Amino acid sequence: MRLSEAPRWIRQLGWRTTIEGYVGQAARRATGRLNDRVGAPALDELRELAGGRFDLSTEAVLAHFGITMPAALARELAEVARQLERRFQQTNRHPAEWRVEAETGSLLYALVRTQQPEVVVETGVAAGTSAFVILEALARNDRGRLHSFDVDTEVGELVTDRSRWSLTILPQSKPQAALRAALGTIGGIDLFLHDGDHEYPGQLFDLRLGWRHLGAGGFLVCDDADDSRAFQHFCAETPAVESPSVLFDHIKLVGVASKHVTGTSNCW
Ligand SMILES: C[S@@+](CC[C@H](N)C(=O)[O-])C[C@H]1O[C@@H](n2cnc3c(N)ncnc32)[C@H](O)[C@@H]1O
Repeated sequence: MRLSEAPRWIRQLGWRTTIEGYVGQAARRATGRLNDRVGAPALDELRELAGGRFDLSTEAVLAHFGITMPAALARELAEVARQLERRFQQTNRHPAEWRVEAETGSLLYALVRTQQPEVVVETGVAAGTSAFVILEALARNDRGRLHSFDVDTEVGELVTDRSRWSLTILPQSKPQAALRAALGTIGGIDLFLHDGDHEYPGQLFDLRLGWRHLGAGGFLVCDDADDSRAFQHFCAETPAVESPSVLFDHIKLVGVASKHVTGTSNCW
């Protein structure tokens, strides 16, 4: 119903029905916009974003970006998973469902091992599952550093070797401004993981900021891409994200985008 058509609707339907029609239409539009921001995406929306199919394994995500998974990596992944499990038995103060899931941990490890990043950044540390696997991979590479950011001081209990780790606690009052300032000093990022504030504005902020600092060939990983439509909107507004992958882990969905040139070989 366009406003210019109002006289016709009034003639045909009367004042009352016409006004109800316009009010209803405005309310539906406002609800739609709000739902876009606060609602969670349907599985089909994320599958469509990923080109019609989810990736179900680390190997599939790597293949999506033209990277062949080295055979030896499977043995390393199994060993790191065992180490992590042992560490969990010793200490874990955070809810289990906060951790990155097993396949996501494998993916992070594999990205670090195959891409050999110098600078890795993550938002959201909690117990430190993602930090643990990233740091294990950096140690194997014998290069690179992980810069982790959280708003809680009591985080990272799983991490044992802190030699390649910088942990920054952002102020709860203005975490985004502090993160922006910190990334300004770190320089180019090779791998960025978002796993902090999972509300739509928080996710979109991290993805935009991480991408801005990501160098050519870099990867951006968004845990809990099914919590809001931020990953979808970020991909839609960023032309350089040509073909994102969506990893369907055990429960969570994880978005992966790259400033990668398809077909580039890994550095293993
Ligand atoms: C889902 S947990 C992270 C799990 C972790 N990556 C792992 O694998 O164990 C989310 C964490 O994000 C932190 N957080 C919340 N808002 C944040 C923000 N704006 N910036 C950084 N971290 C934030 C929370 O304190 C919490 O520790």
